[in-house]
Amino acid sequence: MPGDGIGPEVMTEVRKVIAWLAEHRDVHFDVSEDLVGGAAYDVHGVPLHDDTMAKAQAADAVLLGAVGGPKYDTLDFSLKPERGLLRLRKEMDLFANLRPAQCFDALADFSSLKRDVVAGLDIVIVRELTSGSYFGEPRGIFKEGNERVGINTHRYTESEIERAARAAFELARRRSNRVCSMEKANVMEAGVLWRDVVTEVHQADYADVELSHMYADNGAMQLVRAPKQFDVILTDNLFGDILSDCAAMLTGSLGMLPSASLGAPMENGRPKALYEPVHGSAPDIAGQGKANPTACVLSFAMALRYSFDLGAEATRIETAVEKVLADGVRTADLLQAEGDTAVSTTQMGDAIVAALTASL
Ligand code: NAD
Ligand code: IPM
Ligand code: MN
Repeated sequence: MPGDGIGPEVMTEVRKVIAWLAEHRDVHFDVSEDLVGGAAYDVHGVPLHDDTMAKAQAADAVLLGAVGGPKYDTLDFSLKPERGLLRLRKEMDLFANLRPAQCFDALADFSSLKRDVVAGLDIVIVRELTSGSYFGEPRGIFKEGNERVGINTHRYTESEIERAARAAFELARRRSNRVCSMEKANVMEAGVLWRDVVTEVHQADYADVELSHMYADNGAMQLVRAPKQFDVILTDNLFGDILSDCAAMLTGSLGMLPSASLGAPMENGRPKALYEPVHGSAPDIAGQGKANPTACVLSFAMALRYSFDLGAEATRIETAVEKVLADGVRTADLLQAEGDTAVSTTQMGDAIVAALTASL
């Protein structure tokens, strides 16, 4: 689902990687395309058609570009492009959103932070994705006396916290075995419950994993002060949204960050899954061939790893990206010094494919 703005532009580059895998690795995908967001609204009058929802439910993996744009800003709330994406996440029950932030060495000077702070960084934010203030009831804009009141509800059940915590602990075991859980237990009851449940799950089943807790505001500060202190960060839907954009700048650009949104295992043992870049539709650069397709390509690599047991091919793609960056190929979002020239979205995609071929 390419979606809106730069979504279709970055997805075009992923198609090249899919074609490369078919040609050179004998790995074949049955790919079907559909509309989401503003693109779906333009055709169907809704940001996600029921038929598209059914196709997503039946797929082994969904790959999404981005949704949204100024053209749709004045639409009724329920018709906004973002509702299409939120419906996919909710109805597929994709509760565990993995947002890795890895600083490739070639980009350590591109972060707004000092090289020493970010070089070698490798963390994952596990963001709870189907609950909290994004979905809690009551919600809406109501009349109260002679003024309006806007309401969203930050609501978490024990089981929702528990399954997100399990996802984070399981992931930590395959990494450096450390989880830092972030909430605002000092001011929010839902934060107190979050901390309690994470602690209980830890004591019951994951005592071998090192667990710490942090208030999310301090977490934001620590993320830019000394991000390498973290391995896996576990947090709720809204804090996770904000902290992951913050983590993006540790890697040099929002155009670098992939994500996987995973649900419970299906009958075949693999999780329901949607893969998408962390960035949005970037209306300011859409249609200009400037978008960095790396986040979308790396999201596809995550799909290979988590949905298709093709970890080796995923690593091959990640290594190709690393090589392209080491060779000095940069899209405009990564340019820094005066006199540097940027490659286009298409050229970046071609460079990644060329690096894949060179890896054979
Ligand atoms: P954005 O992520 O679209 O853009 C933020 C900034 O980062 C912009 O300056 C943009 O040019 C730059 N940027 C983002 N991705 C880039 C890439 N791949 N290459 C180069 N530069 C890149 O966020 P925004 O401007 O706040 O939101 C724009 C629209 O996107 C809104 O409608 C928003 O709701 C939507 N959005 C969608 C998603 C999604 O589909 N998952 C995520 C975030 C925002
Ligand atoms: C993201 C985006 C989405 C979110 C929007 C577009 C619904 O910002 O994926 O990070 O807020 O979750
Ligand atoms: Mn976001």
